[in-house]
Parts: sequence; structure tokens; C-alpha cells
Amino acid sequence: MKRSNQLNNDNILFINASQNRNGNTAQTGRQLLNGTQYQQLDLVDYKIYQIGQNYPDDQFAEVVDQIQRVQYLVLGTPVYWHAISGYLKVLLERLSQMDNPDILRGKKISVFVQGADPSDTEKPTKNVVQRFANVLGMDYREL
Ligand SMILES: Cc1cc2nc3c(=O)[nH]c(=O)nc-3n(C[C@H](O)[C@H](O)[C@H](O)COP(=O)(O)O)c2cc1C
Repeated sequence: MKRSNQLNNDNILFINASQNRNGNTAQTGRQLLNGTQYQQLDLVDYKIYQIGQNYPDDQFAEVVDQIQRVQYLVLGTPVYWHAISGYLKVLLERLSQMDNPDILRGKKISVFVQGADPSDTEKPTKNVVQRFANVLGMDYREL
């Protein structure tokens, strides 16, 4: 990670958008964050329904609560079918459609993707998150 991206320890939330809490995505995150302290949020532990679905056990608000506490979001996703995981796709859609998207304004955001062969997915993934950052007023940083 570039020096300019380094922040106060408690300010980094690594969002692991893999089905595995300690798989290759978590491991890559650890390597990229390179000794910096961070909190890890495993999306597999939360029920986050698709936009338009309303179920009482939805846990999106819990994830938003954790996002609200930090200054820097590092998104990590495995490649699933030549794209970001469904976990990350749904999260981005839900965040962009929430009632108070202004809570994201000014926060830093980065993304990485890993997989057996992520070469065709890296650019589209960065484009999506860069665009997301632009729309939501976030500060996109390359890792
Ligand atoms: C449903 C599914 C689809 C996948 N599709 C791709 C793919 O299109 N390209 C690729 O490089 N890897 C693909 N993979 C492999 C994963 O990206 C790879 O094993 C990754 O390291 C898993 O990360 P994890 O250990 O965090 O779960 C796929 C895996 C799964 C489960």
C-alpha cells in the first residue's frame, strides 16, 4: 500500500466479499495492508438482501454502522464468473440506494480482486468502484 494511503489503525475497514472468512481474499488483503492494523468485515456473516427485497432479518444496517465508523474502506473480492462476487455487487447496489448515502461522502475507498486468473476482471472491477466513488462523493485510491 502506498504511504499516502496509510491511516490511523482503527480507521480501515477491510470488507471481505468472499464466501470464505480466511480464504485467498482475506490472505491477499492481509498482504496488501502489509502490517497496518485494520478491522475485517466478512460479508458472508451478514444477510444483505437484494435491492427491492424487504425482509425483517436483513442486516444491511449493521454493515452500514461499521462503515460509518471508519475513514477508509478496502474492498476485496474473489473473481466469480469473470466479475466481482455477488456479495460485493449487492453491497454496492444497496449502499448506492440507501436513504442516507451522504454518510459515505469523503471516505477513502480502494478495491482489489483476486482469483485463479483475475486478468480480465481487474479493470472492470476498478472501473465500477471508481464510478461508485465518483457518484457517492468518495475518494478512490489505487492500492
Ligand atoms: C462460483 C465461482 C466462480 C469462479 N469464477 C472464476 C472466474 O471466472 N475466474 C477466476 O479467475 N476464478 C474464478 N473462481 C475462483 C476463485 O476466484 C478463486 O478460487 C479465489 O481465490 C477464491 O477466493 P477465496 O479463497 O477468498 O474464496 C471462481 C470460484 C467460484 C466459487
